Amino acid sequence: MTDIFEIDTPAVLIDVDRVEANLRRAQDYADQHGLKLRPHIKTHKLPRFAKRAMDLGAIGITVQKLGEAEVMADAGISEIFLPYNILGQAKLKRLRALAERVHISVTADSVETVEGLSAAFADAPEPLSVFVECDTGMGRCGVQSPQAALDLAQRIAAAPGLRFGGLMTYPAAGQVAANAQWLEQAKDLLTQAGLAPPTISNGGSPDIWRAHEVQVATEHRPGTYIYMDRFQVAKGVGALEDCALTVLATVVSRPTEHRAIIDAGSKALTSDLLGMTGHGLIEAYPEAVIVGLSEEHGTIDLSACSKKPKIGEKLRIIPNHACVVSNLFETVHLIVRDQLVETVPVAARGRVD
Ligand SMILES: Cc1ncc(COP(=O)(O)O)c(C=O)c1O
Repeated sequence: MTDIFEIDTPAVLIDVDRVEANLRRAQDYADQHGLKLRPHIKTHKLPRFAKRAMDLGAIGITVQKLGEAEVMADAGISEIFLPYNILGQAKLKRLRALAERVHISVTADSVETVEGLSAAFADAPEPLSVFVECDTGMGRCGVQSPQAALDLAQRIAAAPGLRFGGLMTYPAAGQVAANAQWLEQAKDLLTQAGLAPPTISNGGSPDIWRAHEVQVATEHRPGTYIYMDRFQVAKGVGALEDCALTVLATVVSRPTEHRAIIDAGSKALTSDLLGMTGHGLIEAYPEAVIVGLSEEHGTIDLSACSKKPKIGEKLRIIPNHACVVSNLFETVHLIVRDQLVETVPVAARGRVD
């Protein structure tokens, strides 16, 4: 057995008991409310956790990129939702190839996307299931009104090679009622037009425990819930004790009384602040503030700390945003009660194509 503090740094540690507890908590909640879960694997990018979520009751997985879908399909996962506008011949070819070996569905928010998908699937043995992405308040992709959702759903339903799969949204955090209202209006409009959405897919971790309030949704796609992070804790989604991913870093310099430098910079912790102060929480020194990051150095302000770390000391840091950290490391170390049990490759890291 290797103690985690013997692991070389910077390194990512994943507490598997916490992962299991986070997966179970969400699945229990979903079961209690008759909601299906389709977890987003972008947070961990590991087939084993995707499969574990499905063993516990998830109906499939969500991915953000074709590359992630390919890795998960290779690992034997056959129910995949890719809520993204797939455009261009190269990607459409890959999507068609994937659809021949797994059940995959996608989203569209424009006629251009629908036309490309239809051209690629017109002669496919099975129609491709296409959801209409709805912007219910997030201000990212998505049709802008329930009427526009109906118009695009009709396009999809009439397009050769495609089947209308339903409605999908990635909602703005905290706007649960507005999201629900938007989707209800869209569902009513589509149903009156004879195109009742078979599935309504809602998502996100910040409002996961309020997912049942969006009664019109048939499924939920949480991602970060599996690891949690400093941002989710700030949003009240979980406690610090639920955070399963930590970055292990070494203090490499103490240039002044109040400054420590660690070997984890933006290439380990990411630059994401998500509106918070500091680039992560140092478990053993919660008063310390990671005030700055260059690529390979993290600068810590220790002025509020009574006890201060020494050169060579290893620190565990809860990052602001766990999902991006997963993409930065070739491997993660799975730990149980602070002992290393296995080091595994992050199979879908870097698959941003
Ligand atoms: C389309 C989509 N669905 C689901 C998720 C999962 O959200 P979260 O990480 O808040 O759980 C994301 C996150 O980026 C997303 O973009």
